[in-house]
Amino acid sequence: MKKIYISPSILSADFARLDQECKSLQECGADWIHCDVMDGNFVPNLTFGMPVIASIRRYTELPLDVHLMIDKPERYVEQFARAGADIITFHVEATQNVSQTLRLIRSMGKKAGLSVKPNTPIGTLTAYRGLFDMVLIMSVEPGFGGQTFIPESTEKILRAKQLFPDVTVEVDGGINIETSRQVIDAGVDVIVAGSAIMNAPDRKVAIDRIRKGR
Ligand code: DX5
Ligand code: ZN
Repeated sequence: MKKIYISPSILSADFARLDQECKSLQECGADWIHCDVMDGNFVPNLTFGMPVIASIRRYTELPLDVHLMIDKPERYVEQFARAGADIITFHVEATQNVSQTLRLIRSMGKKAGLSVKPNTPIGTLTAYRGLFDMVLIMSVEPGFGGQTFIPESTEKILRAKQLFPDVTVEVDGGINIETSRQVIDAGVDVIVAGSAIMNAPDRKVAIDRIRKGR
């Protein structure tokens, strides 16, 4: 059995205590820290940018899994790389310069991720084969934590593993102890979970159970 990685999203964290939140997640067994960057244009919500990534970087050794929900991400990927991001994922819908942006991320020595919104077919990504290290399948409309998992996402994960067998497949949105089994069975490699971990009475138990799918 392969190891399923858990990347808790700090979107549902206490933003005034991100140092402690990151330490707590690390102690509870998180593999990566998922950082949701929103610009109020690509998605109807605003979160944080490079300074917050740079600050978090000082408080955890875990890889920072930065999910850019911003228009024209090519404007900022170098700054996110310098701030300490390890994996930089952007949306295929967010730019006309997908290949160049993927190359830019890799040229900074970082892993490049490409994400699709729920209504974007996974086949759209075949045009960029070989240029990305990870696919991020959104299983809710990006923008907010605490939404309900879209069941069709499991089919998309299966398809992604068929199309890109050597690429890491990550899923994000509405994952909890109930829905994690479906995405694990579909072949996912990395699970993002925000509210189900951050609001759990015991974060370690939540991480363990989401990882096991029961
Ligand atoms: C949504 C974000 C997610 C979000 C997930 O746009 O990309 O990472 O934090 O939150 P939950 O797990 O609560 O759906
Ligand atoms: Zn995310």
